[in-house]
Amino acid sequence: MLRPTSGRRSASPIHTPPACAPSTTRARAHYDGALMSWHEAFSDRYEAWSADMAADIPFYVGLAREADGPIVELAVGSGRVAIPVALATGRPVIGIDASPSMLRQARANAAEAGAALTLIEGDMRDFALGERAGLIYCPFRSLLHLRKWADRRRLFERVAASLRPGGRFAWNAFAFDHRVAIRLDGVRFELPVPHTARYAVGDNRIDLVLDGGETSSLWWATKNEWLGLLDVAGLRLEALYGGFEREPLSDDSTEYVFVARR
Ligand SMILES: C[S@@+](CC[C@H](N)C(=O)[O-])C[C@H]1O[C@@H](n2cnc3c(N)ncnc32)[C@H](O)[C@@H]1O
Repeated sequence: MLRPTSGRRSASPIHTPPACAPSTTRARAHYDGALMSWHEAFSDRYEAWSADMAADIPFYVGLAREADGPIVELAVGSGRVAIPVALATGRPVIGIDASPSMLRQARANAAEAGAALTLIEGDMRDFALGERAGLIYCPFRSLLHLRKWADRRRLFERVAASLRPGGRFAWNAFAFDHRVAIRLDGVRFELPVPHTARYAVGDNRIDLVLDGGETSSLWWATKNEWLGLLDVAGLRLEALYGGFEREPLSDDSTEYVFVARR
C-alpha cells in the first residue's frame, strides 16, 4: 500500500469506534486470547469518542419498535443506543458486553436517563438467553472486534439459536475502501480522542493507536463474508442498506447496514 506522509489532522473521518478494554483479569479471560487487546484508556474515553455518533440510533429504534419479543444489544458498551431504544419502546433492553467498565458506564447512564437495561457481563460469542428474542442488534461496527471468521460464525449461530422464528438480527460494519486506507494510514488525529490509525491490509485489520501506544483493532469483512455467515447460521437476508437512512447499497457505499431474519 502507498503510505502517505504522516501528518496531523483534527478529526478522524473514519470515526471508527474503539473496543473497550476489560478492566479485570476475569474480564480479560472472556477475550480468550482470540480478540484484540484493548487498553482500559479507551473505556475511559469512550463517551468522548462516540459523542458525535447518533445517526444509527433512529434506525435501531425503528427496528426495536417493530420487535415482537425481547430486545437484545450485543456489545452494548455505555448504553449509547440501548438507552434511547429502551426509552422509545418503553421496554427493557438486554445488553451484553465483555467489559465491566463499559457496563458500569451503561448502568450509570441508564439510571440517569431512567431507562430499563438488563446488563450482562459476558462474551457475545457465547451468549444465551432465557427467552428467545424478537430483535438482536449490534451497532457501531462492534462485530469487527471479533478477529476470526470462526468467532463470527460462533456468534451468528448463537444469534440464530436465540431468535424467535421471524425475529430479526441487525448490525452495521464499514466496507473496506482502499482509498480511505491510503488517506488515513499513519495519520494522527486530535479528535475525537488523539490517536493514529494504521492499516494492516494483509490481516484485514485497522489498529487504532492512542498516543500512549494503547491499541484497539478491528478486522474488516467483505459483503460476501457477511452473507456467508448468514448462510451457515440459517438466517436469511431481509435487507442490506448502504446507510442508516435505508439508502440502497451501491458500489460507492462505505457502510453495510444489514437486517436478517430467522
Ligand atoms: C465500539 S463499542 C460499542 C458500544 C455500543 N454498542 C455503541 O454502539 O455505542 C464496542 C464494544 O464491544 C465490546 N466487545 C468487544 N468484544 C466483545 C465480545 N467478544 N463480547 C462482548 N462485548 C465485546 C467492548 O467491550 C465495547 O463495549
